[in-house]
Amino acid sequence: MHGRGAAAGCIIARRRDGAEGARSRPMDKLRIEGGRRLSGRVEIAGAKNAALPALAACLLTGEEVRLLNLPRVRDVRTMLRVLEQLGASVMGPEGGHATVQAERFASSEAPYDLVKTMRASVLVLGPLLARHGHARVSLPGGCAIGERPIDLHIEGLAQMGADVRIEHGYVEARASRLRGASYAFPFKTVTGTENLMMAATLAAGTTRLSNCAREPEVVDLAVLLSAMGASIRGAGGEEIVVEGRESLRGARHSVIPDRIETGTYLVASALVGDGVEIAGCRPEHLEAVVSDLRRAGVSIDVGTDTFHVRAPQELLAHDLETAPYPGFPTDMQAQHMVLMTQALGESVVAERIFERRFMHVGELLRMGADIRIDGRTATVVGPRRLTGAQVMATDLRASACLVLAGLAAEGVTVVDRVYHLDRGYEPMEAKLRLLGASVERVR
Ligand code: EPZ
Repeated sequence: MHGRGAAAGCIIARRRDGAEGARSRPMDKLRIEGGRRLSGRVEIAGAKNAALPALAACLLTGEEVRLLNLPRVRDVRTMLRVLEQLGASVMGPEGGHATVQAERFASSEAPYDLVKTMRASVLVLGPLLARHGHARVSLPGGCAIGERPIDLHIEGLAQMGADVRIEHGYVEARASRLRGASYAFPFKTVTGTENLMMAATLAAGTTRLSNCAREPEVVDLAVLLSAMGASIRGAGGEEIVVEGRESLRGARHSVIPDRIETGTYLVASALVGDGVEIAGCRPEHLEAVVSDLRRAGVSIDVGTDTFHVRAPQELLAHDLETAPYPGFPTDMQAQHMVLMTQALGESVVAERIFERRFMHVGELLRMGADIRIDGRTATVVGPRRLTGAQVMATDLRASACLVLAGLAAEGVTVVDRVYHLDRGYEPMEAKLRLLGASVERVR
């Protein structure tokens, strides 16, 4: 099985139903009339950052893997296209479910055209190399929020015996069979941990990964891999130990709810909520976010899989810094910043994970916010009255932040380039309208 997968004439069978989430068009904008109070119930979707590694993991077996609770977002569709490009047969996504079978490989290449649209495509590197013995994956290049190299992914695979070269913008990796090894991440990386954990499941011998990312998405991937027959201990902790297997089997797995989508609706409710229920989530994955909101004076009732939130009379400013899980997620930094523009006092926001994740500040300033950037910290003074404006989204979480600002602003805000938003959120306009907001998609 190792290195012997390539065969011509792969089977491509797929069905797509138009209902799988609104298909965004490049020129789509969201038009938001601010000042409406939110109330009612919103249902949280599956986690994008759990769905993507789970889909990549399908390459580790020739048997069918059925994935449930996949979010209706563009990145999931892109990852399915990457899998089909490699020769996997894909049924779905339909109703948030998909069945993937990578019985044989038609190619070992994840092309630039796909990887440039979604850097998480690099998650096929480990599984492809481990099962197929060869992987040619385009380097993702930098993105709006930072350089985001994958040097640790490569270093870890080389430690497992792979011959890895960077040529013509591609990672070219070969190994007749990976071998177990010890690798200590110099700093935490989420997809780095996921890539090496997946590769280790088919390696000869034991792999010991230390200083691992502890995100719930890493744990969810380990749950899927274990259901496929892998031997993994310690996911969610600092050290993960994997005993390699000859092969893995098919499985059925429902991905965890999206804690960042949950956090985004928590902030919306903290800004303009009059009793909002956020349902179908995993509160234990949001401890840092909930304690941040409580420090801002927001009252939050926590249920088994729900939050009940009510916006306070007055929001309280406080400092915050992003950190790897269980610290405050960088993917919630922009949303938190909007909240601080409406809070009484001065707050310092320190971005410790990515070097360029303040792209939303310029747009918030155009709406009347008072924010000063100094390197990787931003000082926010509030409360400031936000007024609606035409603004431009630059990345996924920045676009969510601008939608939240539009909800809190006076007048009309038009958020341009919402294709960024559609990459990781099920149609926000539909969910916000259910809560009483005035949001529509315009062209
Ligand atoms: C994951 O990205 C998430 N993406 C990101 O979510 C999230 O912001 C990030 O983790 C941090 O929580 C997915 O899970 C698909 P990292 P990832 O490797 O794995 C540096 C969203 O909005 N680094 O943990 O790419 C890196 O540049 C997205 O949904 C290296 O230098 O992030 C960064 O500064 C955005 N070399 C830091 O480590 C490497 O080889 C942490 O990045 C790897 C990472």
